[in-house]
Amino acid sequence: MTDKLSLIVALAKNRVIGQNNTLPWRLPEDLKRFRALTTGHHIVMGRKTYESLGRLLPDRTTVIVTRNPAYRVEGALIAHSLEEAMALCHGDKEVFLIGGAELYQVGLHMAHTLYVTELDLDVAGDAYFPEFDASQWQLSSREAHISAQGLPFCYLTYQRKTA
Ligand SMILES: NC(=O)c1ccc[n+]([C@@H]2O[C@H](COP(=O)([O-])OP(=O)(O)OC[C@H]3O[C@@H](n4cnc5c(N)ncnc54)[C@H](OP(=O)(O)O)[C@@H]3O)[C@@H](O)[C@H]2O)c1
Repeated sequence: MTDKLSLIVALAKNRVIGQNNTLPWRLPEDLKRFRALTTGHHIVMGRKTYESLGRLLPDRTTVIVTRNPAYRVEGALIAHSLEEAMALCHGDKEVFLIGGAELYQVGLHMAHTLYVTELDLDVAGDAYFPEFDASQWQLSSREAHISAQGLPFCYLTYQRKTA
């Protein structure tokens, strides 16, 4: 476990997080919160998530994880494992793993905090957030909202229980 690693994810009721390498919904409220939480920090992401964003997000340091030793993106740091990515984030008190599915699967075992936005929606998708063992996590906050478009959603924050 790494006490400075946080996962941040938006997911549907059926755990879908993506479809065709993109987000299957529009929720501007969540994008604003994502920006507020992550600004000034390192954001770690899988190569496919980076390519789906198609650009560097401002005011954050981007770390892209890939197995390709030749992969380069100007303005981003490149790592070949999550451990290597974390080593590149030294000095940052909170590092955000922002996806996608493959990176969440690895990061869930190392993270201390989960910021989950749960949308009251069932959507078709091809990328899912991994099942996680709720007994290992303590729900520390829950905020229910309704979007400007009328979609109910919830911000859930979990902290890993200490033994
Ligand atoms: N709803 C949300 O909050 C959210 C957030 C982010 C992404 N998404 C969605 O998630 C989907 C993308 O997820 P994904 O699982 O397909 O891709 P991903 O996790 O973004 O990227 C997968 C790639 O990352 C690299 N990688 C993964 N694990 C690695 C490891 N242990 N060591 C080294 N490299 C590793 C590999 O890159 P190489 O192939 O280059 O080796 C792999 O192909 C998209 O639909 C996206 O829109 C949703």
